[in-house]
Amino acid sequence: MTAADNAQLLADEARYCSFGDTVHYVNPPKIFSGCEGSYLFDEAGTPYLDLQMWYSAVNFGYANPRLNEALKRQIDTLPQIASQYLHPTKIELSKMIAQDAQAKWGRPGRVHFNVGGSQSIEDSLKIVRNATQGKSLMFAFEGGYHGRTLGASAITSSYRYRRRFGHFGDRAQFIPFPYHFRGPKGISKEEYGEQCIAQFARLFESEYNGVWDPKVGEAEYAAFDIEPLQGTGGYIVPPPNFFKDLKKVLEAHGILLVVDEIQMGFWRTGKLWSIEHFGVTPDILVFGKALTNGLNPLSGLWAREELINPTLFPPGSTHSTFNSNPLGTSLGLEVLRLGEDMQYEKTVPEKGAHFLAGLRDLQKRHREIGDVDGLGLALRAEICMADGFTPNKALLDRMVDIGLAGELEHKGRPIGLVLDVGGWYKNVITLAPSLDITPEEIDLAIGLIDQCLTKAKRDLGASAS
Ligand SMILES: Cc1ncc(COP(=O)(O)O)c(C=O)c1O
Repeated sequence: MTAADNAQLLADEARYCSFGDTVHYVNPPKIFSGCEGSYLFDEAGTPYLDLQMWYSAVNFGYANPRLNEALKRQIDTLPQIASQYLHPTKIELSKMIAQDAQAKWGRPGRVHFNVGGSQSIEDSLKIVRNATQGKSLMFAFEGGYHGRTLGASAITSSYRYRRRFGHFGDRAQFIPFPYHFRGPKGISKEEYGEQCIAQFARLFESEYNGVWDPKVGEAEYAAFDIEPLQGTGGYIVPPPNFFKDLKKVLEAHGILLVVDEIQMGFWRTGKLWSIEHFGVTPDILVFGKALTNGLNPLSGLWAREELINPTLFPPGSTHSTFNSNPLGTSLGLEVLRLGEDMQYEKTVPEKGAHFLAGLRDLQKRHREIGDVDGLGLALRAEICMADGFTPNKALLDRMVDIGLAGELEHKGRPIGLVLDVGGWYKNVITLAPSLDITPEEIDLAIGLIDQCLTKAKRDLGASAS
């Protein structure tokens, strides 16, 4: 593709494509034409090291040969079939997820598919309402993100996603999350977690706090939707006991726990599910994204038997044409087998520690990096003013543009860097590299972030500090 072709495509996009189905963070939007491993390639063949991997949908690297082969095999055997008929990989994948959940949490359950994370969140809302005789009120966290369909955006903290569309249902009650770096000063992460739980538990102290009827022992709220690590909220890792303490309050008041693993699932944090780090059992667990390594929009949920058995939740409770499509389920099955073979439980924490050490080193050289943290290969770096605290969105936006210009340098050759912006103040680099990233690529990543930050500071001059 020539530069002229590229320019024509951008002009046509501006004229014919809705902007509403994308986010258009960079201007002009970037066109890529190839991908492999940890890299995207532009029309000139310049490689871009991708540190976000399609918001963690491509955990196993672009064009992963084993997963691409599984897709091709399925295309040659049973590429399509209506979802009222059965096919082997739907059943095998469900069994594998349900047996794994039962082994981990001692609870039988079932798996339910849909297409797209938000759609599976919608399904979880239906299961919750159905099992609680129509209770529609939910708790969710400040900073939480669960998608942009109508139901999912009602439990997503940002009003921005609801503002222009009115209300189609009840908006969640949003509860403080222990975002320690920006929390009250002088207390530990653990203490801040305890404070947030105490604040939540207070709601149940008296009927006059608005959510609890002590006479019958019933809460007005059906469930609490959580992300174990906040994804879009900036890869915030809560203290280790936080969810155990939360679960105690929920159990005492008959409130279900819905765990959203759409972004942090499939070994992103070193475990199949990120909630496994926190020692609590979900009632419903929702997954998507890396289930198919981004090759098919399949998503799904696991729910415990009491909530999803066919008597309570019969055929037709939710249905969509492409649910449990065989290309998606064959990929999901291969992803789970690959995950076991690759021993990500061992390699991801090691690679994560290497990456985090590199970020900490970089932090020593740039006072604009206010906080770094991570769990496995879900890592964060907050870009701030020179005080190391005040959020500096402009500086990070400049870094993103510099990375996407593809004019950084590695061994005398041009190279680009794909960074994603997240966080409550849109000043956090949310890092989700390929789980197969090599140690050399991790060192390269640190070097390229260094180059981007150095150039961005120079470009913005005094305004950066
Ligand atoms: C935690 C979480 N939940 C839900 C969603 C929505 O998934 P989708 O974009 O596939 O609808 C996302 C997407 O980023 C997510 O990160």
